[in-house]
Amino acid sequence: MKSSVSTANGQEVPPSVVTKLTVLGATGSIGLNTLEIVRQFPHKFKIEALSCRSSIECLVEQIKEFQPRLVCVDNSEQARELRETFRDRNSGTETEFVWGVEGLIQISSDPEVDLVVAGIVGAAGLQPTYSAVQAGKTVAVANKEPLVMAGELFVQTANKTGAKLLPTDSEHNAIFQALHGEPLEHIARLILTASGGPFRDLPLKEFGKITLAEALSHPNWEMGRKISIDSATMMNKGLEIIEAHWLFNTPVENIDVLMQRESIIHSMARIR
Ligand SMILES: NC(=O)c1ccc[n+]([C@@H]2O[C@H](COP(=O)([O-])OP(=O)(O)OC[C@H]3O[C@@H](n4cnc5c(N)ncnc54)[C@H](OP(=O)(O)O)[C@@H]3O)[C@@H](O)[C@H]2O)c1
Repeated sequence: MKSSVSTANGQEVPPSVVTKLTVLGATGSIGLNTLEIVRQFPHKFKIEALSCRSSIECLVEQIKEFQPRLVCVDNSEQARELRETFRDRNSGTETEFVWGVEGLIQISSDPEVDLVVAGIVGAAGLQPTYSAVQAGKTVAVANKEPLVMAGELFVQTANKTGAKLLPTDSEHNAIFQALHGEPLEHIARLILTASGGPFRDLPLKEFGKITLAEALSHPNWEMGRKISIDSATMMNKGLEIIEAHWLFNTPVENIDVLMQRESIIHSMARIR
């Protein structure tokens, strides 16, 4: 067992106080925000593994800064090129480059990792996020689609393995914080707020003229492209209802959606 861990700022700290992270989708909106937090608290977090699909330039900078032990890319050619790039670099850390779904599963279930940030977009996050749950990790669930696809399996497996599903989508995180440890059986209603997206005031007859740029331009948030489009169509709120149902063991009929244009109140819970 190691007596200390070197963090991103070169500090040596006892392993028990450092949370070791895998960031799935490190080059996306969730991933970049996660790394910003790690940057701010280098004595608390250590990056063990990073992944991306195609933003290799951004990933290279992240590898230089955080010196992860494992990196997963989309294919073997990308992995080979990165191996070449980092071969002669005297970074002090040996990085192993893996690829594809198997690589994502490896970095999600690595025994050294405490916390997996699920920041891949869409269904591609299903297998790696599930493997983190199977491995009993704490999983920061931003990637909502796997819960929508297989929420029951995720919850059942987490109950068996002891994995913790940390609600990271802002609405669900607000509820998680508001509950403050209150047993889930005490929830009477959950109220998810919605800003309404960029077209909340647009008359229906104008919808045919909407451009992609307009749909991507969310009035309150800067996010990845898929979630921005899902927010513009309000589909995102539908996904969030299903996500809340699984995360908080609450029947869908007890979950309401309320328009809160300013996005100041992120969500609410009523307790019995
Ligand atoms: N952004 C937010 O504020 C926010 C808030 C709440 C929930 N979420 C949820 O969090 C998830 C991530 O959203 P995001 O906005 O961060 O998305 P994003 O900016 O599009 O980033 C997606 C990340 O996943 C990687 N990726 C995309 N397709 C992949 C694939 N097929 N295999 C492996 N990696 C892949 C991307 O790599 P490349 O960069 O190389 O393409 C990138 O690192 C989504 O499920 C979203 O609904 C996001």
